[in-house]
Amino acid sequence: MRKIRVIGIGAGNPEHVTIQAVNALKTCDVLLVPTKGAEKEFLANLRREICDRFITERQPRYVHFAVPPRKSDGEYQRSVAEWHAAIAKIYEDLLLQQVGEDETVGLLVWGDPMLFDSTLRILEHVQANARVAFDYDVIAGITSLQALCASHRIPLNRIGKPVEITTGRRLSEGWPAQVDDIAVMLDGIRAYETVDTTDVTIHWGAYLGTPMEIGLSGRLADIGPEISKVRAEARAKHGWIMDTYILRRPIDEVDEDQ
Ligand SMILES: C[S@@+](CC[C@H](N)C(=O)[O-])C[C@H]1O[C@@H](n2cnc3c(N)ncnc32)[C@H](O)[C@@H]1O
Repeated sequence: MRKIRVIGIGAGNPEHVTIQAVNALKTCDVLLVPTKGAEKEFLANLRREICDRFITERQPRYVHFAVPPRKSDGEYQRSVAEWHAAIAKIYEDLLLQQVGEDETVGLLVWGDPMLFDSTLRILEHVQANARVAFDYDVIAGITSLQALCASHRIPLNRIGKPVEITTGRRLSEGWPAQVDDIAVMLDGIRAYETVDTTDVTIHWGAYLGTPMEIGLSGRLADIGPEISKVRAEARAKHGWIMDTYILRRPIDEVDEDQ
């Protein structure tokens, strides 16, 4: 039976790649390489660097495929479902046409496949369609949130407190209920500018793990405008940006054995 290995490759630094991921890469006959977005050249180079550095023996076949764009009009959930169905169809066709029945395929996923990534949902879709039989496993990777916390030398959660991981779009609708700590990803609209800044702290990072990495930390009221300026300049310089941040409201910390 065909086997798919969904391999988290970390958030930008080739040294994020774990030994487990390296060993999984070495078992692959075929690597599926998605091409998409303005950052595609950087991501393609990084993938190539990872493969060149770590796959030292037998070389896999590389199969590139274009990820179709998601329709931005219409209802959000429906457009995402249609988008996933279109990618599932591409996976099915590639598996049937490019991968032998006993071969192993590697899918290199940015960061970790469990965080804001639909590869696993799409594979479930492909299995449910039952056009092609395969088994799959998942190799964990370093997420951009881990890279952000490491870069700012902070823990993700405060003692005994929850953290909500959300998107810029959601944050722009208001601070989530019942949490004082938020990690924000996929924010193309600078939603932190809409937050009531009273005593909120921000830890912001862009291009984490890469040679272009930048980070700023402080009171949102003080450094929010500077983040927007630095962000715009970096985006203009590189032609793309990936950034993420943590927002914290003041609380009384209670010690709960952590
Ligand atoms: C589609 S999600 C993928 C997340 C990924 N699976 C992970 O584990 O980090 C893409 C978002 O992750 C964040 N991100 C990913 N890599 C990043 C990096 N190197 N620096 C800053 N943010 C990053 C950004 O918020 C970006 O919009």
